[in-house]
Parts: sequence; C-alpha cells; structure tokens
Amino acid sequence: MPSSTAHVDTPRPERYVKQLISHLGHKATAELADDGRGTVTFQHGTCVLAPAAGRLTMTATAEDAEALAAVQDVVTRHLLRFAAQEELKVDWASAPSAPGPVLDPAVGDYLLAHCTPADELLRELAAETHRATGDAARMQISHDEGAFLTMLVRMSGARRAVEVGVFTGYSSICIARGLGEEGHLLACDVSAEWTSVARRYWERAGLAGRIELRIAPAIETLRALPAEPHLDFAFVDADKTGYPAYYEELVPRLRPGGLIVLDNVFLGGRVFDPAFQDDDSVAMRRMNEIVVGDDRVESVMLPVRDGVTVARRR
Ligand SMILES: C[S@@+](CC[C@H](N)C(=O)[O-])C[C@H]1O[C@@H](n2cnc3c(N)ncnc32)[C@H](O)[C@@H]1O
Repeated sequence: MPSSTAHVDTPRPERYVKQLISHLGHKATAELADDGRGTVTFQHGTCVLAPAAGRLTMTATAEDAEALAAVQDVVTRHLLRFAAQEELKVDWASAPSAPGPVLDPAVGDYLLAHCTPADELLRELAAETHRATGDAARMQISHDEGAFLTMLVRMSGARRAVEVGVFTGYSSICIARGLGEEGHLLACDVSAEWTSVARRYWERAGLAGRIELRIAPAIETLRALPAEPHLDFAFVDADKTGYPAYYEELVPRLRPGGLIVLDNVFLGGRVFDPAFQDDDSVAMRRMNEIVVGDDRVESVMLPVRDGVTVARRR
C-alpha cells in the first residue's frame, strides 16, 4: 500500500491533532489515543497524526496512489485552515523504505563463524523452523545471540528465569541450558502451534522438566507472578509494542543482580531514523529511553544482531 509522511514544524502540534480529529470526525472515523496521537480512517485510506516537540508528523496510507493523494489533500487543507497564527509548510514525501541490516552481513557471518558452534539439536531446530514457518523463521534468534544468552545465564548463576516470546523454542533452549539442573524457565507465548515445535525440542534436549510453557498474552502471565523480587533472568523477544509493559512488570520482580535482556532494540535500524513513526518504532524508542533513564538498573546496549540491551537490577 502506498504511504507518505509529512513533518510539519510547529510549536502547537497537540492542538492541531485535536482540531483535525474533531473536524475530520464529521467525514471519517477519527480517534485520539491516550499518548496524544490521532488516527483518521477514511473510506480508502488512513492518516496517523503524531505530535512531538516542535513538530507534527503525519503519515498517510491508502489503497492506491489516487486515494493517497486524496487523504493528503483533505488533511493538508484542514491543517492549513486551522493555522491562522503561523505559516505551515506541509511537504508530503513517500514513506522511507526499510533500512538495511544494521550489522554488516560480512561481520555477522564472521561473528557466527567465531562463536562456539551450535550443536546438532539446535541446527535441526533451526532447519525445521525454516521448513515449517517460512518467512516467520526470521523471528528466531541467531546462534551467536543464543550462545550469548547461555553464557549470560551461566555467568550470572541464574536459577529462575522468564522468557517472553518463545516461537519454536531456540532461545528457551539456550536459556534453560545455562540455568542448570535446579533451574526453572517460565516461557510465555500466545501461539500453541509454534510452541508445539518448541515442546518437542525441549523434550529431546532433556529440558522439558525445566521449562514451563504458558499460552496466554504475556502481560497476563507476568501480572499473575508473585510481586516480590524472585527472578534472576528475563528475556524479552515478543510483540514490540508490549515491551515497555513487560519491562515494568519484570524489573520489580528481579532480584538485586538479576538481568533483563531485551532483543531487537535497533528494530532493523528504524529506531535511529525519526522518519519511522509506526507503532513498533515509537514503542521501541520509548523502551530504549525508559531503560537508559531507569535508576533501578545499570544497562548496556550491544550491537549483537538487531541490538540487545542487557540491564542489571541494582
Ligand atoms: C520473535 S518471536 C520469538 C523468537 C524466539 N525468542 C526464538 O528464539 O525463536 C516472537 C514470539 O512472540 C509471541 N508473541 C507475540 N505477541 C505476544 C504476546 N502478546 N504475548 C506472548 N507472546 C507473544 C509470538 O507468538 C512469537 O512466537
């Protein structure tokens, strides 16, 4: 679907969002979210209005080029009408294309070739995931990231762990292996189908007794955990808009010295480019700001694959 974005410099972005939502609500469905962002849904397209400091970002998406031009036109006309006190410059540009991988592929290959190789079981799991899930297999962590997780869990002496985002179980195996015999991993996912593959491989790896699977929205599972600090390790690799809420449930439950690891904090490079104002990019930028400003933890962001943040509870 074609889309385009206009960044409009103005000291009154919130006011314009409210005015646009109120007026366009007569000819379209218009909603204002709690975070101040507005969405106008027309018959053949939508426009998301995102206020930020000194700027209003408008992202239009439509069925085809003609409908896109119509969405741009109606939003621009209304905005200019409201701007009695200032002269606004509204230039629509095609939406940015997805940036390339942050990590140079040659570097990625070199890192993979110089980390303890995956054993037969993990290689089989990766191959089966590719066969069974096609494109979705990209969600699986890479082997060097898995080896990093096992090492972090072992080095920290973690015994009780939580994982948010299981898929076919690669990262669960890496975490559970590091926990040792007495360890326990609570694995959260919403997909019974994908985790049925995980269950088979946990069994084969001799780890089924160490991993407890909960099929439910992860936020429900986390909120039901005891409130006191009892976790040593948490790994978050699920829906990106959920990250801030998962983090807020997990950090108070970490023991002092416990680790929380967040995957995909670069989001394929989108976090660095303000042109990306989609929900995932906005949530991940917010997540990264929350961690760096959080006095409860010390943290480091690493260029491992798509970016990994490791935060340690003080
Ligand atoms: C990126 S994959 C996880 C990859 C996994 N860590 C691995 O190494 O293979 C994301 C997973 O999050 C799950 N997921 C998405 N939304 C969720 C939610 N609200 N609660 C729990 N799991 C969710 C998806 O079903 C998917 O299996």
